[in-house]
Amino acid sequence: MSSTATPPVAARFASPAGVVDGLAAVGYLADEHIGTVVYLADRLAKPVLVEGPAGTGKTELAKSVAALLGARLVRLQCYEGLDESKALYEWNYRKQLLRIQVERAEGPGATGAGGWSEVEQDIFSEDFLLERPLLEAIRAVDPVVLLVDEVDRVELETEALLLEVLSDYQVSIPELGTVRARQIPFVVLTSNDTRELSEALKRRCLYLYLGYPTIERERAIVLAKVPGIATRLADEVVRVVRSLREMELEKHPSVSETLDWARTLVLLGIEHVDTEVAVSTLHLLLKYRADIEKVAAELTILPPGAGRG
Ligand SMILES: Nc1ncnc2c1ncn2[C@@H]1O[C@H](COP(=O)(O)OP(=O)(O)OP(=O)(O)O)[C@@H](O)[C@H]1O
Ligand SMILES: [Mg+2]
Repeated sequence: MSSTATPPVAARFASPAGVVDGLAAVGYLADEHIGTVVYLADRLAKPVLVEGPAGTGKTELAKSVAALLGARLVRLQCYEGLDESKALYEWNYRKQLLRIQVERAEGPGATGAGGWSEVEQDIFSEDFLLERPLLEAIRAVDPVVLLVDEVDRVELETEALLLEVLSDYQVSIPELGTVRARQIPFVVLTSNDTRELSEALKRRCLYLYLGYPTIERERAIVLAKVPGIATRLADEVVRVVRSLREMELEKHPSVSETLDWARTLVLLGIEHVDTEVAVSTLHLLLKYRADIEKVAAELTILPPGAGRG
C-alpha cells in the first residue's frame, strides 16, 4: 500500500446551480449539465475530460473555473512529441555544466570542501531544476487549476505519465525524492477527439461532452461577449449559424465564429441580418471555399415573421 495520504480537498462549490451562476458571473455561459460535472469534479476531486468540436468553449471552461475560484491557471499545452522534460521537469543542463566548469577551473574542492560529491549534490538540487506545468501544479501552495489542453495530441507514453500524475498526485524525482501534492488541483483535460484516449485515463476522469450550444445559450454567449449588440441581432445571428450547422459542410461554424461574425456585424453598423448581409460576410463563419460557395447558393433568410414555426 502506498503511504501517501490523499491530499485534502476543499469543496468549493455549494451546488451545480451555484457553479452555473458563478461561471455566468465570470462570463462563461454554462448549462445545468456543465454545472453538474464541474460541481462533481470538485466534490470528488476528479479531473474533467472535456471533449467536443473546435471552438465550443473547452479551453474557456478551464480558464473560467480558474477565474471563478480565484485560482492560478497552470496550462500544459499538448503537442505531438511532448515528453516528460517539457511536461514534468528537466535539469538545467547549461547551468549544471557551468557549475562543473567553475569547479574544474578553480580546482577540485575550490568552491567548497567536498569535491565532486558536493558538486554532484549541488547540480541536482532545487536551484538547477526546471519546473514544467505538471510539477508546478503538484507543488503549488496557492490554489491552481491545471489545464491539460488538447491531450489527444500526445503519444501514449506521455498519456501514461499524465495518468500516473493524475492518479497519485505525486512525482518522484530520483535525485530529490518524492514530491507530494499539498492539495488536489482542479484539473481540466481537453480533447478534440483526434484519437481515442486510453481507457485508464478516461476511467480516471469525469466526462463532459461540449457540443454546440442551444440557440438560447448561444444567444446568451453572444450577448455576454459582444459589447453593444442588440438582442434582436444576436437572435438572428445564432439562428443563421444554427441553420448552417444543419447543412452538410466540411466544417460547421463554432461558437468562436459566431462571435467573430456578431462582432463584425456590430462594427459594420448592421442591425438586421438578411440573405445579402449573410452571404457577403460568410468568410467569417466558414473556412472552406466549397462551404462558402455551397451556402452562398443555398441560403435564404426569410424576413422576420415569415414562415417560421
Ligand atoms: N459557454 C461559453 N460562454 C462564454 N464564451 C464561450 C462559451 N463557449 C465558447 N465561448 C467562446 O468561444 C471561443 C472559443 O472557445 P474555446 O477557445 O474555449 O474553444 P475550444 O473548445 O477550446 O476550441 P479548440 O478545440 O479549437 O481549442 C472563446 O472566445 C470563448 O470565449
Ligand atoms: Mg481549446
